[in-house]
Amino acid sequence: MNTARRILVTSALPYANGPIHLGHLVEYIQTDVWVRFQKMSGHECHYVCADDAHGTPIMLRAEQEGLTPEQLIARIGAEHRADFADFSIEFDNYYSTHSPENRAISSLIYTRLRDAGHITRRAIRQAYDPVKEMFLPDRFIKGTCPRCGAKDQYGDNCEVCGATYAPTDLLDPRSALTGAVPEQRESEHLFFRLGHFEPLLRTWIAESALHAGVVNKLQEWFDAGLQDWDISRDSPYFGFEIPDAPGKYFYVWLDAPIGYLASFRNLCDRKGLDFDEYCRPGSDTELYHFIGKDIMYFHTLFWPAMLKGAGFRLPTSVYVHGFLTVDGQKMSKSRGTFITARTYLQHLHPEYLRYYFAAKLSAGIDDLDLNLEDFQNRVNADLVGKVVNIASRCAGFITKLFDGELAAQVDDPALLVALQAAGDSIAGAYAAREYARAMREIMGLADRANQYIDHRKPWVMAKDPTQHATLHAVCTTGIEIFRLLVLYLKPVLPLMSAEAEAFLGCAPLVWNDHTRGLGHHRINTFKPLMNRIDPAKVTAMIEDSKQGATAVIPTTVVCDPIAPQISIEDFAKIDLRVARVIAAAHVEGADKLVQLTLDIGQETRQVFAGIKSAYEPAQLVGRQVVIVANLAPRKMRFGISEGMVLAASGDSPGVFLIGADDGATPGMRVK
Ligand code: 2FM
Ligand code: ZN
Repeated sequence: MNTARRILVTSALPYANGPIHLGHLVEYIQTDVWVRFQKMSGHECHYVCADDAHGTPIMLRAEQEGLTPEQLIARIGAEHRADFADFSIEFDNYYSTHSPENRAISSLIYTRLRDAGHITRRAIRQAYDPVKEMFLPDRFIKGTCPRCGAKDQYGDNCEVCGATYAPTDLLDPRSALTGAVPEQRESEHLFFRLGHFEPLLRTWIAESALHAGVVNKLQEWFDAGLQDWDISRDSPYFGFEIPDAPGKYFYVWLDAPIGYLASFRNLCDRKGLDFDEYCRPGSDTELYHFIGKDIMYFHTLFWPAMLKGAGFRLPTSVYVHGFLTVDGQKMSKSRGTFITARTYLQHLHPEYLRYYFAAKLSAGIDDLDLNLEDFQNRVNADLVGKVVNIASRCAGFITKLFDGELAAQVDDPALLVALQAAGDSIAGAYAAREYARAMREIMGLADRANQYIDHRKPWVMAKDPTQHATLHAVCTTGIEIFRLLVLYLKPVLPLMSAEAEAFLGCAPLVWNDHTRGLGHHRINTFKPLMNRIDPAKVTAMIEDSKQGATAVIPTTVVCDPIAPQISIEDFAKIDLRVARVIAAAHVEGADKLVQLTLDIGQETRQVFAGIKSAYEPAQLVGRQVVIVANLAPRKMRFGISEGMVLAASGDSPGVFLIGADDGATPGMRVK
């Protein structure tokens, strides 16, 4: 066996203001599988995480619910822990960034950075809500897009034309919290001098085995130049006050990654581990962060630079994954594909999802698709049809005819040896996070085992007592192979493996057990270890997720105030028509837009609608919508938009098209 390594592993810290959903679980399952594999391989591996508890949205959400931030994060923290436990995500420590350890390490890192000359102060002008008496983050400012004139756009980009801008560029800006016109106020902020670390970062990147996709992105950032990073926020803010800047707080993204170390510190103190041994420069331990591709900048630039500047070790590597899509599209509340961990668990077994994600995960940063039909087919075919089937085809004979005793000799030692020999390649795939390859190899072995059983036909031998000795050896071969497959799948399927171990009557399997067999041994009565997925449960899960969509607790952004009154004559000026979507297409280069060709009865119109986040173009064709038919055409970056499609949007995320009931025809006037 290799010498034991000492490894510290983290997954990104989920915000403490929302539920865990299947998108999050890609990462936690990916990390958990890797950690379980390392532990099974005999390495000392510590997996830590925490809730990311600070920041303006959490502060405002608590206020809205009539809670203190501490009460809110305690409640959400408990929900997160339960979700993770029920998916068998086995953290060695799950903590909170709002902890004494995090406060202490954040202060230490900040102080060291400051003393080494990596912090600078300067005044900046920012939007300020005079009613709420606080500075407004960009997403809390709304107004009219300076480029296309679309109303109700966020402070940093326009959902209609895709423009990006500063909040000060918005026409008619309003605080999304109170509706007040924001003032520009000056305040002193603290900045981290990221540029000081460019040479160090270039060396670290070259040495840390990052995926090529990550390195390319980093190169773009270097080419654009590394900017100072604003690490402070003004009161009121939920976070840690900066030691030498009263009334100013660390920006949530400063203390979030430090939360990894704080969670580990807490574990060390509880378990008597040596924190410094893992965190000092030159340590021979390993440190890996699993993250999504949206937070690379923080983990591959700010974080290593902060660690270096404050005298800590650097990460060994950062493992980046892509996003989850469901049936080829972004998760959507209206389609019922924004599925929370809890809703999933109310309908389906967690290991179906663990297996499916494993079967699709590689080390790359490509997005991963949960195709609900493929999900059912693959789980049924692979786990139930191939793996569990091997045990169910052999165990009954062993119990009934041989009193549960395995034979001293297997029938096909060469087959068993070949399956044992595959263990090294499967281990290599796990270690390299190439789980899809590992699952393919394991299922290839299961196919061979089933072919072997098909060929030997134990059910025929059972009828002929003269063949019982051979039957005994054949079924023993099957059970030995089943044990081997369970061992290979154990990082992915811990619950099923535990039940299989109980059935086999063996100690918890470790990786090295793949080189030996059960031998002459008694097994227990077999019970089905996994059932086929019931399609009705998948449908029910989607339906429940849709219902969840209407019951979303409003986020911190309030709905627009009711507009000033108009007369019926004013309203009559707006010509609203029923339209049918004849064609719908993605718009190259636009994040939010879908290009619609609409039949409005007497003519055809082209309209660009900012609905891409909620609708896949192909699904819109044939659907009836309502358009403002007499809106002056607008020139947009991608072409002329000849009208506006009506859709509802408000404080909770989502865009909802307004339609007409069946029977309405294109061209009908809406009044
Ligand atoms: O993007 C997020 O959800 C953040 N809460 C992740 C933080 S990861 C780490 F840096 F703490
Ligand atoms: Zn715009």
